[in-house]
Amino acid sequence: MNKRLGVLTGGGDAPGLNAVIRAVTRSALRQGWEVIGFLDGYAGLIENRNVILTSNYISGLLHRGGTILGSNNRDNPFHFPVPSEHGIEYRDMSDQAVANLKSNNIDCLIAIGGDGSLAIAHELAQKGARVIGVPKTIDNDLPATDQTFGFDTAVTTATDALDKLHTTAESHHRVMILELMGRDAGWIALVSGIAGGADIILIPEIPWQLDNVIAKIKERQNEGKHFSIAVVAEGVKDPTGKFVVRQHIPTAHTKIRLGGIGPVLAQLIEETTSIECRATVLGHLQRGGSPSASDRVLATRYGVKAAQLAMDGQHGLMVCLKGQDIESVPLDLVARGTRTVPPDSQLVQTARALGICLGD
Ligand code: F6P
Repeated sequence: MNKRLGVLTGGGDAPGLNAVIRAVTRSALRQGWEVIGFLDGYAGLIENRNVILTSNYISGLLHRGGTILGSNNRDNPFHFPVPSEHGIEYRDMSDQAVANLKSNNIDCLIAIGGDGSLAIAHELAQKGARVIGVPKTIDNDLPATDQTFGFDTAVTTATDALDKLHTTAESHHRVMILELMGRDAGWIALVSGIAGGADIILIPEIPWQLDNVIAKIKERQNEGKHFSIAVVAEGVKDPTGKFVVRQHIPTAHTKIRLGGIGPVLAQLIEETTSIECRATVLGHLQRGGSPSASDRVLATRYGVKAAQLAMDGQHGLMVCLKGQDIESVPLDLVARGTRTVPPDSQLVQTARALGICLGD
């Protein structure tokens, strides 16, 4: 019997997931291995819903956003929702997940995901499953890798949005605010803010004060620039020190859905300055669409490396980018928190050198 790899995509979708699936499958098939895709993240592994990934099945995938395997950011094998006579009960189904890898003759599972999905992959590895992780998230907040795939596309989309907001800001002499995703990390906001020529960039890593934001807007007015562009990351706290939360989801890995700091900031600026101020929340547009060329290449390199490590008999690893090279690190490194923007990083210093207001 041919040797087999399994692959699944977990957590929120990110541009480049299909490129990883394609790269894993193509490189494995070329070496005589088979590849099985589990559907809808860990749910498909527990419920044994899967497809055989043939050469035809993965054809035409490189440029497609989303994931052909489906994903979700709720189903955790160690705390899995099961219908019972009392409603939904949460059970530890991890033995079932490991057993299904065995019954499908999977030599190694390639788990493509962010912090939640890779922490689960690590826990499954501790139960004896052979797993290799691939770091995905638009937030770029995973430790032990210089970049996750999906980030570059999200930054490109956000930068495009900023270019478009400039038009209305200039024409109507307004302050235009763009709220971006990223959870506790300000990578998307900082990088796209620099790329899109923002005047103000607020990120969760740098505490901010309204006075400083207002001072920047007034400084620009005094220079004859009657518009300003501000970028605010969704994880930035309001002036009372609280997250702006759109929804609470107690059963999910991430218990709160952030969203709304942009409109809060817009109201504060308008009340204080009487300058018309509008907020746009870019939301899931950042996760959608075709991956950028850079993300296609990064995702492909990750997929090829993950498959090669697995076919070489290695496991308990996560592939990562170190400088220009794709390498691997122990999977448990990803379980050690998130990688946020260092407030003294070169990127932050670059923004400061340009006179961008970071709110502090
Ligand atoms: O982690 C990726 C991400 O897009 C975050 O930036 C955002 O906070 C979250 O997922 C949104 O998740 P959901 O699609 O479940 O609302």
